[in-house]
Amino acid sequence: MARDEFVLDTPAVHAFVLDVCAAIEGAVSSSEACEAIRPRFAALLADPQWLPARYQEAAAESGMGGGIGQWLLYRAGDGSLSLFSLVVPPQAQTPVHDHLAWGLVGLYRGTQEEDVYAKRGDTLELVERRTLRPGDFYALIPPRDDIHRVRTTSPVTSVSIHLLTNDTGCVWRHAYDPESGEEKPFRSGYVNASCKHGGRRESDI
Ligand SMILES: [Fe+2]
Repeated sequence: MARDEFVLDTPAVHAFVLDVCAAIEGAVSSSEACEAIRPRFAALLADPQWLPARYQEAAAESGMGGGIGQWLLYRAGDGSLSLFSLVVPPQAQTPVHDHLAWGLVGLYRGTQEEDVYAKRGDTLELVERRTLRPGDFYALIPPRDDIHRVRTTSPVTSVSIHLLTNDTGCVWRHAYDPESGEEKPFRSGYVNASCKHGGRRESDI
């Protein structure tokens, strides 16, 4: 098994991951684990110091397109957990996509508008549009709310922090055409890390 990777190798990230792993181990369900992690995640979003500027920068070449940067901060060697920042330039938006894992997602900088979709047979229905401000976060427990896209509405890049229970940048997931509902295999990658240890096929997830 590959070793855990602390790309952002700081005491703050080590302490956060340690607390998260303890919460997951002590929980009997994904929702209970999310509840236990919430205070720790809120504290991370409220801390202006822990995330260096480079992980808040857009990336010209990225799997998401539009200059959107997905920066890996930490991932477990067995692909069971990842922490990353998603940086979306002003006016840019992600493709409609899913995550295929539970976890917590919250906004660290800027503002975003998020469109949440639900599958209705072969089509997608827009079920919610919400505005996110710094400090806002939610528990993502698929299949509920797993399909979405975000766009930045602030004049600065938006930075959201994702804690998800897979190696999100490396797993094959789905991007969708919101008009037709057509889905395509999608792997976003990371700006700063390879997928040589990851890349489980969709059928393995
Ligand atoms: Fe997402």
